[in-house]
Amino acid sequence: MGIQFKEVTFRYKGFKTEYQALDQVNLEIASKGEIIGICGHTGSGKSTLVQHMNGLLQADLGTVTVFDITLPSKKKVKLNSLRRRVGLVFQFPEYQLFEETILKDVMFGPKNLKMKEEDIEKIAKESLNAVGIDASLYDQSPFRISGGQMRRVAIAGVLAMQPDILVLDEPTRGLDPVGQKELMAMLYQIHVETQMTMLIISHDMDLLGQYATRMIVMKEGKKLFDGSKDLLFTHPDFSDMNLDYPTSIKVMKYLNKEISLPFKMLYSMEDVLTYLEANAHE
Ligand SMILES: Nc1ncnc2c1ncn2[C@@H]1O[C@H](COP(=O)(O)OP(=O)(O)OP(=O)(O)O)[C@@H](O)[C@H]1O
Ligand SMILES: [Mg+2]
Repeated sequence: MGIQFKEVTFRYKGFKTEYQALDQVNLEIASKGEIIGICGHTGSGKSTLVQHMNGLLQADLGTVTVFDITLPSKKKVKLNSLRRRVGLVFQFPEYQLFEETILKDVMFGPKNLKMKEEDIEKIAKESLNAVGIDASLYDQSPFRISGGQMRRVAIAGVLAMQPDILVLDEPTRGLDPVGQKELMAMLYQIHVETQMTMLIISHDMDLLGQYATRMIVMKEGKKLFDGSKDLLFTHPDFSDMNLDYPTSIKVMKYLNKEISLPFKMLYSMEDVLTYLEANAHE
């Protein structure tokens, strides 16, 4: 088992107030083979949830076990090793770039983890290659490339720590539509090659519909749903979940209603077109 939440409750503590952001969440995540989409209304606890996965936040009640480490713990825990195993890509990760060259920026994480000197540059280059950053850019400033490239460099910085599980908080937010598609295709390619489990927080149901193998829906700090896409989008309580259907499913529903085309769960418009071409003449 990669990650296990047992009855996790968490409160943000302010000066005079407390806010319960997670409420008795149970969760199990394997370290290989899954792309898990995490969705839910704004403020539902998605970012809070994933920040428990690498010890950035710790439960007030309940426990989170990540590989062999359980938090909170009475013993002193090496949070560094936890952070290496679960790579967390924050929202707008490019804000955290800071080194003078792209290569140095990606080498920063592995250096901090005291990886072997000769391995650090090699791993950094492999990570940049995986995110599609060309070797000709290695010595450039990370502040002189496009927003989409900056985000890729930031993701490479997390990949360079060689995590077992990769968590991305709204990875496509703020990118143009082409940049969003390219970034997702790139992440998917990394998943296919490594089988690394990825958790992706997103409000974009088209994106999650297309790539997620499992969906988690959060609502008011509770895990409302955890299961397959097909189950989610046919769930009788779907309308209470504050979610949208993927465009492809909306179109299939419409075609079913208007021209009695047999409904099928399809998760991309390309698949809808192929299906239409095969069935429209009948
Ligand atoms: N540092 C903080 N201090 C106090 N309350 C917080 C803090 N961070 C988040 N919260 C509150 O906890 C709740 C859950 O926040 P969280 O950021 O996990 O939601 P989210 O699902 O990621 O939302 P979004 O889709 O807007 O990113 C929200 O009501 C938020 O206002
Ligand atoms: Mg969030």
